[in-house]
Amino acid sequence: MALPPLYTYRNPAIKSSERQTKTVQKMKFQNLFVFLCLFFTVTKAQTTIQPGASLSASNPNLTWSSPNNTFYIGFSQVGSSSSYTLSINYNGGVPVWTAGNSATTVDSEGSFRFLSSGNLRLLNGSGAIVWDSNTSRFGVTTASLDEFGNLVLKNGTSSVWSSFDNPSDTIVPNQTLRVDQVLISGSYSFTFLSSGNLTLKWNNSIVYWNQGNASLNANLSSPTLGIQPTGILSIFDDAFTSGPQVVAYSNDYGDVGTRLRFLKLDKDGNFRMYSTDLGSKTQTMVWSALTDQCEVFGYCGNMGICSYNESSSSPICDCPSENFEPVDVNDSRQGCKRKAEIDSCPRNATMLEIDNAKFLTYEPELSAQIFYMGISACRSNCLSQGSACIASTSLSDGTGQCYAKPPGFISGYRNPALPSTSYVKVCGPAQPSPPPGVLTVEKSRSRGLRVWVVCVAVVITLLGLIAVESGLWWWCCRYSPKFDSLSAQYALLEYASGAPEFEKGNVNSILDRRLTDQGVDIEQVTRAIQRPPAPKAITESSISGTSIMSSDVSALSTFAASAPAPSSPLASGPTSWD
Ligand SMILES: *[C@@H]1O[C@H](CO)[C@@H](O)[C@H](O)[C@H]1NC(C)=O
Ligand SMILES: *[C@@H]1O[C@H](CO)[C@@H](O)[C@H](O)[C@H]1NC(C)=O
Ligand SMILES: *[C@@H]1O[C@H](CO)[C@@H](O)[C@H](O)[C@H]1NC(C)=O
Ligand SMILES: *[C@@H]1O[C@H](CO)[C@@H](O)[C@H](O)[C@H]1NC(C)=O
Ligand SMILES: *[C@@H]1O[C@H](CO)[C@@H](O)[C@H](O)[C@H]1NC(C)=O
Ligand SMILES: *[C@@H]1O[C@H](CO)[C@@H](O)[C@H](O)[C@H]1NC(C)=O
Ligand SMILES: *[C@@H]1O[C@H](CO)[C@@H](O)[C@H](O)[C@H]1NC(C)=O
Ligand SMILES: *[C@@H]1O[C@H](CO)[C@@H](O)[C@H](O)[C@H]1NC(C)=O
Ligand SMILES: *[C@@H]1O[C@H](CO)[C@@H](O)[C@H](O)[C@H]1NC(C)=O
Repeated sequence: MALPPLYTYRNPAIKSSERQTKTVQKMKFQNLFVFLCLFFTVTKAQTTIQPGASLSASNPNLTWSSPNNTFYIGFSQVGSSSSYTLSINYNGGVPVWTAGNSATTVDSEGSFRFLSSGNLRLLNGSGAIVWDSNTSRFGVTTASLDEFGNLVLKNGTSSVWSSFDNPSDTIVPNQTLRVDQVLISGSYSFTFLSSGNLTLKWNNSIVYWNQGNASLNANLSSPTLGIQPTGILSIFDDAFTSGPQVVAYSNDYGDVGTRLRFLKLDKDGNFRMYSTDLGSKTQTMVWSALTDQCEVFGYCGNMGICSYNESSSSPICDCPSENFEPVDVNDSRQGCKRKAEIDSCPRNATMLEIDNAKFLTYEPELSAQIFYMGISACRSNCLSQGSACIASTSLSDGTGQCYAKPPGFISGYRNPALPSTSYVKVCGPAQPSPPPGVLTVEKSRSRGLRVWVVCVAVVITLLGLIAVESGLWWWCCRYSPKFDSLSAQYALLEYASGAPEFEKGNVNSILDRRLTDQGVDIEQVTRAIQRPPAPKAITESSISGTSIMSSDVSALSTFAASAPAPSSPLASGPTSWD
């Protein structure tokens, strides 16, 4: 019996176990020589773990390897902390399966055991059970790790449990995901629907990503999702007579070699494909479900606002304004909390304005939270709703839609490319965050000092110049009749800066003459030098019917111009505000 080739589209793990069952039946009829050959091949393809064997977190160098060392089981330290996870790793150390989930850890005295009762068990230093395969009732006799990275428990010859069947957050080639299985990472989960759609959910409720191909829906019998070793995310089903249906190609698809491609639901809620070379500790992202990370619901925690800046491609998390503070100063992804609860000022609530921002709204929230109204109604309706509305977003994208967010978890996204304007109900006056650059006292102090030094230097230089000039004038021109014409020339000094003329719109005057000669686009130049309008925050009291508006400098205006464009909002039927 030969091993299934690496390039098989179907699930060779399942196929090979079926084949093993068949060989057992055959064994009864065929001679001992064939039996020995088969036995040799089977045992060669997987490393058998003896009952009673154990691994210890205190010695991560001790591992259980697959026959050709392609995969191994062992403990890995989580960062530089004193916690360890037990995982199946590709040669080099990239994990592809974790006992429990990525948050399941033990201390340095933890251990992983294959008990004679047939259980695989992860214990912490105090002997508490942290994870268990719950297989004691199956009469398990052997545990083994094969060349595909599958850890299998068997009773005699049939598989009763396998790591491929109990995925954590990763899928490797030869492993497939059925519609009844789920990948979990923190609050995020990934599922494959019987319609052939792929979905990502937050807290098992908010569907922030749902992708499918309507023409596949017909007649799928028992579809599974998997990754071909060449780096192609595919749907497998008996209905596909011409092979698996492609969902996505990795950007390095094609070559096989000793490279492993795998799918992973990351802790940040994105579903990605990675590539890693045999023996390498690092992985390269080769495809991701969401290209815009800020579209992931809850990425910045409750009340957190996701955005991008020039100096880093990964998103950053902020609080909406000074009316909020981070839940954990050391982890901006934990979200924000109000300094004063809205309940504490039932009649003094105001709406904080955040430009170019939206509050993420996905199924199943859409039908209940979408209203059709203009920007000012979107704001004032939320304000007058009392505790039923805590924030709103006027999409301003042509759909005429307004999201009204009820109390609960809300997730914000700010991007200069977004036409939306959002409002958050706060207690008392809105306190926009300080502009970036004066975030720390030390920074602003040193800047203040620099400005002061420059001012003094300029004043001293000017005084010096004036003294020298007046000295010269007094010395040479005090009796000259030419004085009158000279003073006229001095008036020209006012002209020197060119600034007053530019203010009046004479762009040519400040433009390099060489550029003017080359026929530059004056309109573009004008746009480039124009001052942006000052951002503002609206403070409005809700006590009386009349509005008190005040404009304030807002910090919510610095972003990378290169941030990804938002996806189009989901459509929904018209509803009216209650
Ligand atoms: C594990 O192996 C590395 C080198 O391969 C060695 O430096 C380290 O001391 C070993 N750790 C233990 C606990 O044996
Ligand atoms: C082991 O787990 C138990 C139960 O969760 C916990 O009470 C105990 O503190 C843990 N021991 C260590 C050493 O982490
Ligand atoms: C192995 O487990 C299966 C259930 O998964 C059971 O039907 C079968 O009888 C068991 N075989 C032995 C030898 O215990
Ligand atoms: C997650 O969902 C559960 C109900 O499924 C709910 O009770 C809980 O409040 C939700 N968590 C958050 C943070 O909203
Ligand atoms: C499948 O995804 C498509 C979008 O790609 C969506 O229109 C359709 O409603 C989804 N179907 C299900 C059953 O979720
Ligand atoms: C949807 O599936 C059909 C049939 O397999 C295929 O021809 C088409 O290219 C797919 N569409 C997309 C957008 O993948
Ligand atoms: C951009 O993000 C980096 C990393 O989070 C941060 O250090 C830097 O201050 C940010 N820049 C601005 C202008 O906000
Ligand atoms: C944040 O980190 C600092 C230094 O690592 C620590 O002293 C402080 O207690 C941490 N704060 C919180 C809220 O965890
Ligand atoms: C509303 O706020 C003002 C000042 O911001 C304060 O003087 C007044 O007492 C507040 N009213 C209530 C009902 O909280």
